[in-house]
Amino acid sequence: MSVAIYPGSFDPVTLGHLNIIKRAARCFDKLIVCVMVNSNKTGMFTPPERVELLRRSVKRFPNVEVDFSSGLLAAYAKERGANVVVKGLRAVSDYEQEVQMAVINRKLNPELETMFLASSEKYTYLSSTIVKEMARYGACLGEFVPREIIADVERRMRELERKDG
Ligand code: PNS
Repeated sequence: MSVAIYPGSFDPVTLGHLNIIKRAARCFDKLIVCVMVNSNKTGMFTPPERVELLRRSVKRFPNVEVDFSSGLLAAYAKERGANVVVKGLRAVSDYEQEVQMAVINRKLNPELETMFLASSEKYTYLSSTIVKEMARYGACLGEFVPREIIADVERRMRELERKDG
């Protein structure tokens, strides 16, 4: 059975992520979407909340599982019997960091290959950071995040703004 992992912060999942999930799920028997920790980023949602939002968004894909790991991707892949990591590439700006991570992951786990899917041109501009910025200014989120989670993103943004005064 071919098993691939699509790792990310998913804070929150965007329509760009969902497009990669849909396409990658067609290429493997099983796709594990794994919420992981990016030590350079602070969160809008906690990891368990991100997992819940993702699970709601991928319900229609029977071979997609959502999980969380606070460890190294290379170790997690070994544990789950996966030898492919899937990543989306939006623009040249993603390339350098993504290739660096792919090389490190293969050094840590020589069985692990990283495969890149070119982002759909519809979503090359889209990131979780952009979603947070749009939510802050009250923009309509319908074009950015799965409809199942729009209300959650709007609500969390209002809560954060109240907290910050
Ligand atoms: O969505 P992101 O923030 O670009 O995803 C980055 C992520 C979470 C996949 C990356 O930071 C990661 O793999 N974190 C797990 C820890 C790890 O294995 N780090 C070594 C890779 S350099």
